[in-house]
Amino acid sequence: MQLRTRAEPEAGLFIAEGEKVIERALGAGYPMRSMLLSDKWLAVMAPVIARSVAPVYVAQPAVLEQVTGFHVHRGALAAMGRRPLPDPGALLAGSRRVVVLEKVNNHTNIGAIFRSAAALGMDAVLLAPDCADPLYRRSVRVSMGTVFAVPYARLGGPQDASPWPRALDLLAEHGYRRVALTPASDALDLRALRLEAGAKVALLLGSEGDGLSPGALAACELRVRIPMAAGVDSLNVAAAAAVACYALAGA
Ligand SMILES: C[S@@+](CC[C@H](N)C(=O)[O-])C[C@H]1O[C@@H](n2cnc3c(N)ncnc32)[C@H](O)[C@@H]1O
Repeated sequence: MQLRTRAEPEAGLFIAEGEKVIERALGAGYPMRSMLLSDKWLAVMAPVIARSVAPVYVAQPAVLEQVTGFHVHRGALAAMGRRPLPDPGALLAGSRRVVVLEKVNNHTNIGAIFRSAAALGMDAVLLAPDCADPLYRRSVRVSMGTVFAVPYARLGGPQDASPWPRALDLLAEHGYRRVALTPASDALDLRALRLEAGAKVALLLGSEGDGLSPGALAACELRVRIPMAAGVDSLNVAAAAAVACYALAGA
């Protein structure tokens, strides 16, 4: 994961799977490097193939399975080139509602969070260096291609002038209200959260194990919890993100 995030910008590639996802990636400006598919998908993929000059390899399903190590049931795989990630400051300057993730290293959760962020009107996602790759095949698939629609940036890498969690100071510099999502019982009930009209808001969510680190919590002005029935100690991070984005959309 560390190598992947380090090589993420121009150097890397990612795999898009299936007609819709490949189409969305092309539509978002990611260049296709090559495509691999079985002949029964050629006709379906023809319009997508026509949009690119990349080589297209056709093989028997058994060969596809041998090459990839899994059964390619969505018909086609495309190797896509990554694009450089935006500067986090520029992204914050042009946004109003952002999701900030710390140590969310499960690809399914990352994909689900992007899908909610897209559906519930969030402008961008900022990722701590230890978050999973949004362009990993599983994240892309779970997100239904919304990882191509919601801009994202990495914040506070070890080479940056302000490593994590100090990098979170950037949120305050850009005038964001920093809201930490935590199941802690002494946090404010999300239903009681009131924000000034037009406020810029950053929702911070943490890892499945430990939740937000003390450093990330200290960077927030507000600690907010989604009330739960007795006996349940926390929600899955993607479920919590969906609830919080929904609440913010209506605020
Ligand atoms: C599985 S939880 C982590 C649980 C961890 N033991 C803790 O105390 O934070 C993963 C993340 O989801 C969010 N989360 C989960 N349940 C929540 C709730 N009831 N209210 C607010 N945020 C919640 C938080 O951002 C948390 O860091």
